[in-house]
Amino acid sequence: MNGGRYMAIPPGAIIPGALPDFRIYVVTPQGKYVLWALEGNRVSSEQLARLSESGTKEVFVDLEEQFKYEQYLETNLSNILGNLSTADDQKAEIFSKVSTNVVKVAFETSYGLGTMGAAAIQRTQKLIENALIFIKEAKSLQALAKMIGHDYQTYEHATKVLWFTVAFLQLNPDILEQIEPGYQAFDETRRMDMLRQCGVGALLHDIGKAFVSHEILTKNEPLTEVEWEIMKRHPLNGLAMLIDTDIPAFVKKAVLHHHEDFQGGGYPMSLEGPNITMLARVLRITDVFDAMTSRRPYKDPMPPMKAAQIMIGTPEDKKGKDDDPEQDDRDLGMRRCFDVDLLQKFIVFLGNVKLNG
Ligand SMILES: [Fe+2]
Repeated sequence: MNGGRYMAIPPGAIIPGALPDFRIYVVTPQGKYVLWALEGNRVSSEQLARLSESGTKEVFVDLEEQFKYEQYLETNLSNILGNLSTADDQKAEIFSKVSTNVVKVAFETSYGLGTMGAAAIQRTQKLIENALIFIKEAKSLQALAKMIGHDYQTYEHATKVLWFTVAFLQLNPDILEQIEPGYQAFDETRRMDMLRQCGVGALLHDIGKAFVSHEILTKNEPLTEVEWEIMKRHPLNGLAMLIDTDIPAFVKKAVLHHHEDFQGGGYPMSLEGPNITMLARVLRITDVFDAMTSRRPYKDPMPPMKAAQIMIGTPEDKKGKDDDPEQDDRDLGMRRCFDVDLLQKFIVFLGNVKLNG
């Protein structure tokens, strides 16, 4: 294996017409690595067709160019998902690889939780791969590709929300029971399916942002009234994108309700309390938590426990008694967004997150 200097990649990761800035190799029956495409050269669909006719299941990239390959995947992910000639299992593999990397980088930087262990990486990869297969089976792959192609940051955020949502729910079967009564009596396969569907809801929750312009999505100043009205349509647009797919109804409702506030006043319908579906209440927490702890061009990531403190806020009757100088009225407002029982469970979960197992 030539000292193991190469990594195998699926040919489906190479987009015809795109310009990889890394070299691609094939391996001969004698185990020799031969240059197949030079960096900076367009790979044509004819070349890729010849490769697949010859039965080639893998091509190779020099390990030293792994970073360039990952950058290339990020840039081309939406094309890969939308490419009809790429096999579904290859799409799932590529998607889970890119997405796992997103989660891994976030853990090592924003969350300050250290290096993700090999077993945790493998579990994450499997989870995301399964979520994508489900999305494909539910005929919503094109909608996901549209969102990724429109705004890569929305996709990165959604991927981390998926990780948090599934990891949190996995440790809280009582919440899964509330999402779908009878869950605790399900067999293992059905339980895993249910968890996977919740992950899909997390991955798709902001899909309606595909209809919000880049200018609005990346604006550093407060939004104008009109821009805010456009932004507030994304849960409805998300539902519209999924309405004709086979995504389960409770997942569609979670997409629609994920900005509803537990004490009312959220959007688009200003629902309250138990009228907001349980998965949406979970997403309200994981969504805000990830947004607060993520790096943005205009802000550093907030430490997780600081974010949790702000999310808890100060109850009305305690206001002023503890005199925390960093606590302001906006934090009190944030408390209204969440189902407090659920938020307490989420904070217990944060204290227990172990990534190296
Ligand atoms: Fe959202």
